Amino acid sequence: MRDLDGRFAFITGASRGVGRSAARKLASRGAIVAIGYRREREAAEEVARELETLGGGGVPIQLDVGDGEARDRAFDEVEAKLGGLDIYVANAAATAFKPLLDIKPHHVEKTFAITVSGFLFAVQRAAALMEKRGGGAIVAVSGYDCVRTLPRHGVLGAAKAAMEMLARQFAFELGPRGIRVNCVNFVYADTDSTRFYAGEGHDRMREDVKELTPLRSLATADDVADAISYLCSSGAGFVSGQTLMVDGAILLTAPAPQHLPPID
Ligand SMILES: NC(=O)c1ccc[n+]([C@@H]2O[C@H](COP(=O)([O-])OP(=O)(O)OC[C@H]3O[C@@H](n4cnc5c(N)ncnc54)[C@H](OP(=O)(O)O)[C@@H]3O)[C@@H](O)[C@H]2O)c1
Repeated sequence: MRDLDGRFAFITGASRGVGRSAARKLASRGAIVAIGYRREREAAEEVARELETLGGGGVPIQLDVGDGEARDRAFDEVEAKLGGLDIYVANAAATAFKPLLDIKPHHVEKTFAITVSGFLFAVQRAAALMEKRGGGAIVAVSGYDCVRTLPRHGVLGAAKAAMEMLARQFAFELGPRGIRVNCVNFVYADTDSTRFYAGEGHDRMREDVKELTPLRSLATADDVADAISYLCSSGAGFVSGQTLMVDGAILLTAPAPQHLPPID
């Protein structure tokens, strides 16, 4: 399918994980993708080479989403190198995984700078470029921590909740300009950040999530990227202001407590 021929996309955090999978999906449909990365230039260049072989193309773009000047420079570069923008995927995230009682002000500032103000101000830039092309699609990558509690995810969950609400507000404001805004939310995919978060408990965590998921399997980065790709397509042309849960229906499960206390 070459339905994204002539389209330009910018995906943050596309040097690895879910962002890289999304870049592959969009490029295989013909898009030229600006591959956002923070430090791993070589990895981003490798993704760019791979995208050429898939029928699209790629250009590495360095930025720290939480840094206003770097973000503005990156959008200037996207405009100069791609010549326009039709799709923006806000995928990059970083946080300190700590209990809320151990959180310091700089942890909150950094997490919110990337996920909340980074999203808001990037969408302002993306929308201005999309408007010149008569519309576009924006997808924010969210997480289960904003709908259910997860250990050491308090600050990131709060930031993702704010980002999801901003996405709905943007869907409202940008709809008249032909720009759709949606979120994809998921629980787990095997990526560097999941392994960092779970450490030695990674395999046990995988088994727990699988056990609790009605589909009895785990999402891959490609499953999440398929949902992102769908929301960027004309097939989702009337979908805006939504969060698509890619969770195997785990949100519906409430595991029964093993040991219930007596009623009286
Ligand atoms: N993995 C999961 O189980 C899971 C579950 C729910 C939600 N999510 C969400 O899914 C998204 C992708 O996660 P992932 O697991 O695929 O991540 P990942 O594999 O750890 O990759 C992180 C990517 O983000 C980039 N990045 C990190 N900090 C950045 C910053 N400040 N500015 C710009 N780029 C930055 C990294 O660039 P460099 O390579 O250059 O460092 C890298 O490309 C995130 O929003 C995450 O919260 C993940």
